[in-house]
Amino acid sequence: MPDASTGASAPNPHLPPYAARGLKGRILSGVQPTGNLHLGNYLGAIRNFARLQSDYECLYCVVDLHAITLPQDPKQLAAQTREIASAFLAAGVDGAKQIIFNQSMVAEHAQLAWIFNCVARMGWMSRMTQFKEKAGKDRENVSLGLFAYPALMAADILIYKATHVPVGEDQKQHLELTRDIAIKFNNDFAAPDFFPVTEPLIFGAATRVMSLRDGTKKMSKSDPSDYSRINLTDDADAVAQKIRRAKTDPLPMPESPADAEKRPDADNLLGIYAALADQEKEAVVAQFAGKQFSEFKAALTELAVAKLGPIGAEMQRLMKDPGHVDAVLRNGAERARALAGPILADVYKTVGFLKP
Ligand code: TRP
Repeated sequence: MPDASTGASAPNPHLPPYAARGLKGRILSGVQPTGNLHLGNYLGAIRNFARLQSDYECLYCVVDLHAITLPQDPKQLAAQTREIASAFLAAGVDGAKQIIFNQSMVAEHAQLAWIFNCVARMGWMSRMTQFKEKAGKDRENVSLGLFAYPALMAADILIYKATHVPVGEDQKQHLELTRDIAIKFNNDFAAPDFFPVTEPLIFGAATRVMSLRDGTKKMSKSDPSDYSRINLTDDADAVAQKIRRAKTDPLPMPESPADAEKRPDADNLLGIYAALADQEKEAVVAQFAGKQFSEFKAALTELAVAKLGPIGAEMQRLMKDPGHVDAVLRNGAERARALAGPILADVYKTVGFLKP
């Protein structure tokens, strides 16, 4: 009901806070501070983080606790944590409106993760493809943390009762596990609807960015060749060189989307162009059909430099100002704790822990 004296609506106590603010839900997403950010990270995740802020309450977390499931150099970990935070800011996430923070500053993540370690089953964790890939043949020798990784990820999400998580293909299985943990917790403790069953938010098809050296492999920070990827902090010369050297085939540009699909290197470059230009791939294919790759590569370079240049420059500027970035993270962590604290207190009560 509008308040007669002010015209403003009184907050409805039955609505979750995001709904009372006219938003569609609460988002939590995380990025690991391991290695340089590249175009794949930007188009697949970080760019979308900025786009979601008009419709959702957003928490964007640099998951440093997850990073140490594999060995990390402490100095580099700190620098990389700031780099990811800088990327969020440079990509346009508003650190004052949304919550940008690093995981280790909000102890509630680790506290809830322990409880989830006791909810999740060994069998569930053993089936995680990311664990199998990362552990490889060395299964006996990887950290226990790597095995428990998805329970911590579930805690990241559920400590805020997040309703939506933007994920790429590779994280869908972890999100399903998060849903399983939520459901099992709610059942085990006879607390129906305690945790929400979080929905994935999947983005358009153009988010799979492949290696510039091999269009059948994902662009990756662990590829030994720096020519396989465009880093967000690459300058214009580096971007131009990498695109010039990007693998193609000897034919002219594809004549149709079907033709492009059969040619992974060409398809990848067309997908990158479409994503950067915010166009449908069909339109880009039509624009360059039958032309020489050199002409297309020149256009792609110009576009990439125009779109990524300002973001890279802003990241560089922010990374030279760690005091500012740290202040954003501390402020975000404080606001994150204000949301997580009461939820953890409820969890503790539900589990039967005495009130501290
Ligand atoms: N596992 C994610 C990745 O490797 C990172 C992550 C940790 C995450 N916690 C999260 C993603 C919570 C979304 C939500 O990319």
